[in-house]
Amino acid sequence: MAPMGGALLGFREFYPEDCALRQYIFETFRSVASTFGFEEFDGPILEPLELFAEKSGPEIAEQLFHFEDRGGRSVAMRPEMTPTLARMVGARAAALRRPIRWFSVGEQFRYERPQKGRLRAFYQMNLDLLGESAIGADGEVIAALIASLKAFGLNEKDFRLRLSDRQLWRHFLASRGVSDDGAAGILNTIDKMGREPESVSREKLCSIVSTPVAEELLRSVKELSQCTTLGALGAFFRSNGHGAAMDRLREWEELFNILTAMELAQFISIDLSVVRGLAYYTGFVFEAFECGGESRALAGGGRYDNLVKKLAGTDMPACGFAIGDVTLGNLLREKNLLPRGVCNCDFWLAFDDVNKFIALRCANLIRQKGRSVLYSLVEHLSLTKQLKFADRAGARFAVLFGFQDETGCSGENLCVLKDMRTGNSRTISINSLLEECACLT
Ligand code: HAM
Repeated sequence: MAPMGGALLGFREFYPEDCALRQYIFETFRSVASTFGFEEFDGPILEPLELFAEKSGPEIAEQLFHFEDRGGRSVAMRPEMTPTLARMVGARAAALRRPIRWFSVGEQFRYERPQKGRLRAFYQMNLDLLGESAIGADGEVIAALIASLKAFGLNEKDFRLRLSDRQLWRHFLASRGVSDDGAAGILNTIDKMGREPESVSREKLCSIVSTPVAEELLRSVKELSQCTTLGALGAFFRSNGHGAAMDRLREWEELFNILTAMELAQFISIDLSVVRGLAYYTGFVFEAFECGGESRALAGGGRYDNLVKKLAGTDMPACGFAIGDVTLGNLLREKNLLPRGVCNCDFWLAFDDVNKFIALRCANLIRQKGRSVLYSLVEHLSLTKQLKFADRAGARFAVLFGFQDETGCSGENLCVLKDMRTGNSRTISINSLLEECACLT
């Protein structure tokens, strides 16, 4: 039989060292989320197809892994967490104390063309705050996103958060006579403008609005994309005359005051060309990008005030973000910010034939105290060989039982504790070893 091929395109295998790094990334995120008072939740990997087909928008719908299950139900592997979260929160809306601060870490699936930073199975670290419409909630999730990326050792030279606002866009489009229905299609087109030729964008816009309005929109998108300060945005909307947009800019000021107080403003770039591909966003939206290099998206998020209502019938404003593990992992690797292999051996026990069962008894007792223990499974090995294995395993300490000729240690209840970092050894009683082993570092 021919050997099996590799894993499916866009899917990863995790060898132990990959698992260790994945665990490091998840745990770092978990510890930041808990400093912001967020609790972990999880949901099903397989969901009804319609949960995403309608709620996530056309771009995600095209990327779904979906099929009919044996009972004839149309199901999809989850491409994101947000619709599941909205359904879960909606189902217990009356009982949950607001604001609801939840985070999750889980695998997502999108049938995309695999390329650097984009796979078909990837992990997302989601953090969402629900039940609060105040700008403070947007400030809190943005602060949590920046704190998460900083916790990996990244700084303002490594990433930026591009901030935009669907509400501002809707005010602007309304001032040009575009209906709410038309706005969704236009925002979708604006989202793709950086990646599509202008002629394609023009054609799409002309299918929604008249040619002169489409031309004006193209000009405005370019002009708005150049506005990188609150002052410039103010000047744009003043000259384009729209009061609602000017009111909204006061909320932008509030958000900046919050971020400035938390010393985070230097991470933010105003960039109205960011609109986000997902259909449910209603207010501030943002994407964290790596600076330089390929400038890939590390994370994305924003406010989605209508999704819980659509899914569960309860009014529940919400905002949040997701960090992807692929681009983040690549960036940490490039910047040399990933920790080196983790040592998972606290004690290596080396023993001669006479002391084998004494050593095994100690192995059992030390493990019961929560410390890791390894020893050679092959018998009759020299002390030198066993110490070489201890070294290779990255053991923090070696404990020598017997080997009187080499160690000079003769007492029955004695062993030699060797610090593998300093090379220093001391003879101690086995009872003291068992007492001390829990706190030796
Ligand atoms: P998203 O922008 O679609 O947002 O995804 C967030 C992040 O997931 C991206 O910035 C990227 O790092 C990662 N990601 C997305 N697709 C792939 C892929 N094919 N391969 C590798 N990484 C990928 C959302 O999913 C929203 N649900 C986020 C959210 C939470 N909004 C509010 N709350």
